[in-house]
Amino acid sequence: MPTYILGIESSCDDTSASVLCDGKVLSNLIANQEIHKSFGGVVPELASRAHQQNIIPVVNQAISKANIDKNQLNAIAYARGPGLLGSLLVGSSFSKSLSIGLEIPLIEVNHMQAHLLAHFIEDCGPYKPSFPFIGVTISGGHTQIILVKDYFEMELIGETLDDAIGETFDKCGKILGLPYPAGPIIDKNSKTGNSIKHTFTKPKVGGLNYSFSGLKTGFLRYIEKETKINDNFIKHELNNLCASLQKTIVEILYEKVILALKQTNISRIVFGGGVSCNSGVIAKFKENESLENYQSYFPKFEYTTDNAAMIAMVGYLKYQNKDFSSIENGAKAKYQF
Ligand code: KG4
Ligand code: ZN
Repeated sequence: MPTYILGIESSCDDTSASVLCDGKVLSNLIANQEIHKSFGGVVPELASRAHQQNIIPVVNQAISKANIDKNQLNAIAYARGPGLLGSLLVGSSFSKSLSIGLEIPLIEVNHMQAHLLAHFIEDCGPYKPSFPFIGVTISGGHTQIILVKDYFEMELIGETLDDAIGETFDKCGKILGLPYPAGPIIDKNSKTGNSIKHTFTKPKVGGLNYSFSGLKTGFLRYIEKETKINDNFIKHELNNLCASLQKTIVEILYEKVILALKQTNISRIVFGGGVSCNSGVIAKFKENESLENYQSYFPKFEYTTDNAAMIAMVGYLKYQNKDFSSIENGAKAKYQF
């Protein structure tokens, strides 16, 4: 008998629902919230309202695109956290109600674990990472280095002490007048820019932790200083600024991940989260594989940013272990595995 899992993701500003059959994606729908663009970042109150509007149509479409009846579902997996509480509440309340209505198990999923376990989705190719590996979750809300010994044996060994890496792209982009989210635009502009034209100071943080707020402030001061001299500085230098900024961010990321490999004696790096599709990150980690003796794994593009297929995948793994959740478990803005 095939196992059908419905996954629901609503931790930030994407409402997503997906149906998996035995780990294979039958549907994966994402409703993006355009409303935040004009505010330069996600507005939590608006995000939860938009989730409320989107969730029923998105779930209905995911089930109909999967070409199954809702009564064929075996379980519902939902992102319990971490994320914005109001947003998480929409997905968790909806999932609980549906599991009661359909009388099927409910499975809670840690969103950050799901970013890494997305690599085990059936259509992600034949080369699945084996354990142990170093997980690197890089998104708008997180920058974490995780020692992954097994599917659900994960230990946080490093993280940002302030801004996340995606947040740094977005905030520096805002300084350049770019719309939210600026990460993909900076990446695109970088391709035609000179990455050694401008230099920015890297932070000095001990161990495996990161700090990006100093870079952001340094970037702001540099732009302020240069635009005082030349009004058109950003316009003339946009692509060079993007390329130089991206190079700096990638180098900061790279140094700590390599240190984590050395400290743990592990030779596999598995990426997850929106920033893992950044061309500079991929190029840097791919080109140094033989030099530093590791293999790096990047998710398929559609599973880099927030999506419900990764939630359903974790649901499928937990379903096999009968790891079901109580209806009483509340959403968790902070949720450590
Ligand atoms: O994982 P995600 O969809 O949402 C969470 O933050 O959880 O990641 C979104 C982040 C944003 O900060 C966005 O600017 C960044 O990922 N991002 C990128 C790229 N694509 C998305 N940053 C740099 N380069 C990209 N190509
Ligand atoms: Zn995410």
